[in-house]
Amino acid sequence: MKQREQWTSKIGFVLAAAGSAIGLGAIWKFPYMAGTNGGSVFVLLFIICTLVIGLPVLLAEFVIGRRGKSDAVTSLKKLAPGRKWHWIGWMGLGSSFILLSFYSVVGGWILSYLARALFFKLETTDHSELFNSIIADPVEVLVGQAIFMVLTIWIVQSGIRGGIERASRLMMPLLFIFFILLAIRSLTLDGAMEGIRFLFVPDWSYLTSKTLLMALGQAFFSLSVGVTAMMTYASYLQKEEKLGQSAFNVSILNIVISLLAGIVIFPAVFALGQSPAEGPGLIFVVLPAIFNEIPFGGFFIIVFFILMLFATLTSSISMLEIVVSTGIRKKYDRRRRAAWMFGALIFIVGIPSALSFGVLANVEMPGGTIFDFADLLTSRIGLPIGALLISIFAGYVLSSAETDDELRMHPYLNKLWKFIVRFIAPIAIVIIFIASFLS
Ligand code: PHE
Repeated sequence: MKQREQWTSKIGFVLAAAGSAIGLGAIWKFPYMAGTNGGSVFVLLFIICTLVIGLPVLLAEFVIGRRGKSDAVTSLKKLAPGRKWHWIGWMGLGSSFILLSFYSVVGGWILSYLARALFFKLETTDHSELFNSIIADPVEVLVGQAIFMVLTIWIVQSGIRGGIERASRLMMPLLFIFFILLAIRSLTLDGAMEGIRFLFVPDWSYLTSKTLLMALGQAFFSLSVGVTAMMTYASYLQKEEKLGQSAFNVSILNIVISLLAGIVIFPAVFALGQSPAEGPGLIFVVLPAIFNEIPFGGFFIIVFFILMLFATLTSSISMLEIVVSTGIRKKYDRRRRAAWMFGALIFIVGIPSALSFGVLANVEMPGGTIFDFADLLTSRIGLPIGALLISIFAGYVLSSAETDDELRMHPYLNKLWKFIVRFIAPIAIVIIFIASFLS
């Protein structure tokens, strides 16, 4: 029987975990969520939620994953035999299934833009109209989504060493450099300061429980927390890795990229007279407009969309990885078939989301369109509940001897973490969750 793989290098795991975290969450979702939730207050709450709740729960996933050394369901069974905690794993599987079903839709949009950029079809004065016509075209969105799913499946079926790790190593730093250059261009546009004010000067009227839940959901979504993705990744990890350090690095990197995305987008939004509350199309409308203002923009936008596609793939593969690793459990030689089978199923489940900007635009669901509903089910329900259960598991079911053995941080830090996963994180999640439904 095939052996379970491990990451080949120390940097491999950190890059893969960062790769899972950094994706559409930071680059696409963060700007539009900030734009529709009043900017600065959302940004502030997002940073607080990431550091105070997201980071400790991320660390909890790392601890459970490495201790269990298996797919999430098996790990949780192993750590709490005869109890029901492994349902967290099944829930995570369900959440990542739905997540990927709409995530792949946006992956498809990126492919559309990439194809257009390659064939010089992005030259327009009305980027908003172009975006709306793309996402309303049933053939284009479904073809894009299908190709995106095939790419995801193809990487996952070749296993962690061949695919995920090698792929993560190159493109992430490149993406980062690109973002810094774009931020500089955006900041030097006329009227850019308005955007900076929108992002960083608080308008307290937006301080509501709904904004708080949105920020919490965003923190979980962009850290890949609450669906056992990070638990699964950590299960491939050797004992030497310092988990606390990794969780900290991933969280900080994620905040930095999210803020950078905001600093790229909002100055340009205001300078070019667009609306910050554009919604899911925000970056697709604004980015091409910024590239228009850059020498050789037509070339750079191609490179940019390739990098973005890459960041998106390093996240989507982690979603499919949970489903596949749980689906095959110990039968490691079934990876290839499982990847194609689950990938195809996810594509099918994602079709209504893909069509919800065109043919199915009039279907009303809780939260808005079908696409919004899938997002609501995960970001506002599945992820927070998953994170809640994970922190309770790490706080109460695992003994301090077990967790300390995995954490190996300064004793004070171990205690602080334990305190947070026992009290702060669960209480905060429950309060935010309930309050947002009452308001
Ligand atoms: N963190 C990813 C992103 O920001 C999304 C994700 C969520 C990936 C949950 C895996 C699990 O794009």
